[in-house]
Amino acid sequence: MSSNRRIVVTAVRTMELREDPIPAPAPGEVRVRSTLIGVCGSDTHAFHGRHPFIPIPYMPGHEATGVVEELGEGVTSVAVGDRIVVEPTLPCWECKPCRSGAENLCENLQFFGCGYPEGGMADQFVIRADRLHVIPDDISDLNAALIEPLSTPVHAARIAGSLQGRAVAVLGAGTIGLLMLAVARWYGASKVVVTDPLPAKRAAAMRLGADAAVDAMAADVTAQVRAALGESADVVFDCVAVRSTTLAAIGMALKGGTVVIVGVPAADFELPIRIMQDQQIRVQGSATYVPQDFASAIEMIQSGAVRAEDFITGQFPLQQAEQAFEASMSGDHIKVLIHP
Ligand SMILES: NC(=O)c1ccc[n+]([C@@H]2O[C@H](COP(=O)([O-])OP(=O)(O)OC[C@H]3O[C@@H](n4cnc5c(N)ncnc54)[C@H](O)[C@@H]3O)[C@@H](O)[C@H]2O)c1
Ligand SMILES: [Zn+2]
Ligand SMILES: [Zn+2]
Repeated sequence: MSSNRRIVVTAVRTMELREDPIPAPAPGEVRVRSTLIGVCGSDTHAFHGRHPFIPIPYMPGHEATGVVEELGEGVTSVAVGDRIVVEPTLPCWECKPCRSGAENLCENLQFFGCGYPEGGMADQFVIRADRLHVIPDDISDLNAALIEPLSTPVHAARIAGSLQGRAVAVLGAGTIGLLMLAVARWYGASKVVVTDPLPAKRAAAMRLGADAAVDAMAADVTAQVRAALGESADVVFDCVAVRSTTLAAIGMALKGGTVVIVGVPAADFELPIRIMQDQQIRVQGSATYVPQDFASAIEMIQSGAVRAEDFITGQFPLQQAEQAFEASMSGDHIKVLIHP
């Protein structure tokens, strides 16, 4: 193959399959042949021109797995033939967060597949070698496609503090919320109650081990979640982050609980700051992941706590990326993948 097919979003709701020359890795980079690329909410939001930080045109595909084909100068951390998963944050390694092990908060952060001039929805792509994790042999390609999405809830759980024996609520049973449920179980939560407006998503949550799944549109959703937990929530993971979910989350966490904002809010809104002070509510933002979260996600998948057959509901070839995006947005899927 002498040319490289790549998806480019060229205008709102317009994507092209472009043929480029095969990219050459710069020093410190590698060239990767794509195996499976996940479609994420940020991809579909950007496709519709609704993502605040991804300008069009853009090269989608940050949930990227593949096989190393060529090493740029000086690369020793991976070898040709290694199966890899991309950690798509591109930190500068020089700012204060980077120097303190919080490179997800890099002050100069760029993001592979999100507004960066390279992404994974292509036959082949180049990427910095320091952003790769080698996939262990006992993880299939399909399971490996879950490592990056799973790393987000793993990170959220880690910064929430111990979940052992804790009462947990998860708001939103999309890909992230359902993986959050699995993570809360893995870390020993005593009860996990999930909310979603869609019956099919609530059914998926019950299949995947929720103690209860509550209709997010019920007027008394907060009371229903507290009743199902049998107590207040120690930790609420808001995997939606609209006004109604964050207010409900605070109501579930009264008193003294933690609300973790995992969803990306589309707009700012007011919070009941007087109640938060008086009742000692901690609101904790959570942004992507760091390598230790990838390591925990890999361990969870190796243990069978998260399985592709429960989460991967659709696969499309590269030339049907648009159908893959539509499927991903339809509400009928959990995780949709693209395979070049
Ligand atoms: N913090 C991070 O680093 C990070 C990383 C990846 C994704 N995200 C964000 O996490 C969020 C979830 O991502 P996803 O891929 O699961 O999206 P998704 O679209 O698959 O899932 C969202 C779910 O929320 C449900 N929902 C909608 N309104 C609701 C409400 N009022 N109450 C409860 N549930 C409601 C939907 O029915 C759907 O099931 C998104 O905002 C995404 O951008 C954050
Ligand atoms: Zn994503
Ligand atoms: Zn930095």
